[in-house]
Amino acid sequence: MKNNDNFVLRNTWYYALPSNQIKPGMMISRIFLGEPVLLVRDQNGKVSAMRDICPHRAVPLSCGRFDGQEVECCYHGWRFNSAGRCTAIPSLVEEQQMDLSRFDVQSYEVREAQGNIWIYMADPDKSQPAASDMEIPVIPGFEERSLRGASPTPQFVEVMKFPCFVDHAVVGLMDPAHSPYVHRAWWWRSGQLHEEVKQFDASPYGFTMRRHRLPANGGRLYLLIGGGVPETEISFRLPSVRIEETTIGNHRVVNLTAVTPISDTETEVTFVLYSTLPWVGFFKPLLHVLAQTFLGQDRTVVEKQQIGLKYNPVLRLIKDSDMQAQWYYQLKREYARSVAEGREFVNPVKDQVLRWRA
Ligand code: FES
Ligand SMILES: [Fe+2]
Repeated sequence: MKNNDNFVLRNTWYYALPSNQIKPGMMISRIFLGEPVLLVRDQNGKVSAMRDICPHRAVPLSCGRFDGQEVECCYHGWRFNSAGRCTAIPSLVEEQQMDLSRFDVQSYEVREAQGNIWIYMADPDKSQPAASDMEIPVIPGFEERSLRGASPTPQFVEVMKFPCFVDHAVVGLMDPAHSPYVHRAWWWRSGQLHEEVKQFDASPYGFTMRRHRLPANGGRLYLLIGGGVPETEISFRLPSVRIEETTIGNHRVVNLTAVTPISDTETEVTFVLYSTLPWVGFFKPLLHVLAQTFLGQDRTVVEKQQIGLKYNPVLRLIKDSDMQAQWYYQLKREYARSVAEGREFVNPVKDQVLRWRA
């Protein structure tokens, strides 16, 4: 259920799926922003995406076969390469020369980096992609395997579906005031509310909570790592990416959380973890339980929120603790406007200190 002036942002990169979910020669059918998308990885390892509907008589192409190069529709055998080009219509006899490019399938731009596959969802009403210099998020320091144990592949990935419109999942990610009520756990923080004072700065297509020391009772998990006082920096960027980087001594732990709209009532949240701590991989089963618990708490409260949202109430965001949510809506509106007007994006976020109790 949508509220206020909510809309799904287009002409931007969304998280599609973790790289390791699609092996060479494989195809996967997904829905993003209400559109059926077929992702394929060819024999050379390149991922491509096209509309998962045969232009002939609308059978999903994913019902057919992919031979590592071309997709063949299961109904009449029309074939398409990974760029969506129609390459064969088997029923045509030799004299029936036809311009097959009339039957191409819509393709989508795809990028792959650091174990993540991103898809560019353009405006469906425009044939030309909008001019935007927005790029996929890349986590500095994890581009190559060589750096201090840093690896470009995530050590851990968790995906969870939320039964809500994308905005509610995004706003929940950046909402500091819900933690003491929603995320109660012995390993996460004590129950006492205390005042937080944080400096925020505008950053590309979003904003960043400036690097700060984690309080002694914050992030107990990090204290297990040892090696100093953990420091954290959290950034948000359009359309829906949150990157939290924690340093402990010489080590870095970075998590990327990306939110992808599936439909107006379903959203996928992907949590990806990178670190310079090689042993993190051994704790996958434990991390899985923690992530399921943590994200599950967010999902449970969002499910409850849907009960109220059915009545389309106007939501009352307050100053300070909801400021990040307000910025999100402002960023979204400004991005959509700048694309529509064909002009440069002007970040609406003004550097400032926010205070709240959490
Ligand atoms: S429906 Fe796909 S080939 Fe006819
Ligand atoms: Fe949460």
